[in-house]
Amino acid sequence: MKDLLATYYFRPKEGVDAAYAANAIREEQTTGTWTDLSTVNEETAYVHALDGSVEDLVELPDGGYLTKICFPHEIFEKGNIPQYLSVIAGNLFGLGKLEAVRLLDIDLPENLAGCGPKFGIDGIRKIVGTEVSCRPHIGTIIKPKVGLNPKDTAQVAYEAALGGLDLIKDDETLTNQTFCPLFDRLEAVMDALDRAKDETGKQVLYAVNVTTGGDRIVELAHKAVSAGANMLMVDVLTAGFSAIQALAEAPGINVPIHVHRTMHGALTRNPHHGIAMRPIAKLVRSSGGDQLHTGSVSGKMGSKAGEVIADNREITKPLSYLKPVFPVSSGGLHPGKVAAEIAKLGTDIVLQAGGGIHGHPEGTTAGTRAMLQAAEAAILGIPAREYATSHPELAAALAKWGDA
Ligand code: 3PG
Repeated sequence: MKDLLATYYFRPKEGVDAAYAANAIREEQTTGTWTDLSTVNEETAYVHALDGSVEDLVELPDGGYLTKICFPHEIFEKGNIPQYLSVIAGNLFGLGKLEAVRLLDIDLPENLAGCGPKFGIDGIRKIVGTEVSCRPHIGTIIKPKVGLNPKDTAQVAYEAALGGLDLIKDDETLTNQTFCPLFDRLEAVMDALDRAKDETGKQVLYAVNVTTGGDRIVELAHKAVSAGANMLMVDVLTAGFSAIQALAEAPGINVPIHVHRTMHGALTRNPHHGIAMRPIAKLVRSSGGDQLHTGSVSGKMGSKAGEVIADNREITKPLSYLKPVFPVSSGGLHPGKVAAEIAKLGTDIVLQAGGGIHGHPEGTTAGTRAMLQAAEAAILGIPAREYATSHPELAAALAKWGDA
């Protein structure tokens, strides 16, 4: 199919017929408006090619409805994701005939897909040297999330790398502030990772947060890569999908892109209104994000396990034209939660801990080791508490945070 199929949940306002409401969404997002138009006549009847169609309408036990709307591919400007969103997630959210409406999913056809991830799961595993291993990647967010200067940030990165993890990243609110200028931080962290590599032999990725205005992000990313960055990070919902796309398509930016979804709760949290994570995740894959935060099953952010599992399946399922995205589970994780994450999300996952590493009683290196030990235990099928009897770093973590 060449057209885009969008699935919505909606609740009509009292007294509004459901079929009328579904058609109002289609109409508003395609060729129509609230009344008939003198501009659509026999001579301009060709515009009906963009009418689209309501393909399905099902009543749900909660009184809401599920509908699928088919949008003709010609209504989209290929590759222009802001424009895609104006069609599938535009004015409809404000329609007065609807009490609530939520974009649940999209079937994005190959002819409308972007370039996709340059690296994907296999490409990232290759850089880090874990391609023959079936363990999750372990990552950390430097904490505190803001406030440290470049030298102290680099020291934390060094200690984390000594523990053997795979990824270190900036937090979503750290960009290029005066207390920690981006290029000073990048230089210091990459130097620290080189020193750690001399000791461990292991290449660690550092996702430096280049989120900035659309007029500056590509130039900033180019400079970051020239200064040694081996991964870039973008806050997709604040910067926009085109920020990822611009970096993924820019010649010379040959490093993976780590995508944070900060602000997503404003869209995803209400089960009846907004935009579910699924379409966001699919658009990130299409735009060229290599890693994406999709939620955890046991962390602090209140995700629903079933949705996280299904979203991860969607962005990792084989497609001939898009590489899989490496899903990231993050937010409130610590070694005691690793078994639950692996049990539900599998091993093709990045398990990230900020507080769960830097809050370890013996410090960051021990915190990193404890996360890795917890992953080893889960993969071996050994309860964390049992494994901890011969792994002191894990024992100290479990003593502080428990194993649930
Ligand atoms: C994230 O980016 O997911 C958060 O900064 C995670 O931090 P935490 O592990 O301390 O909850």
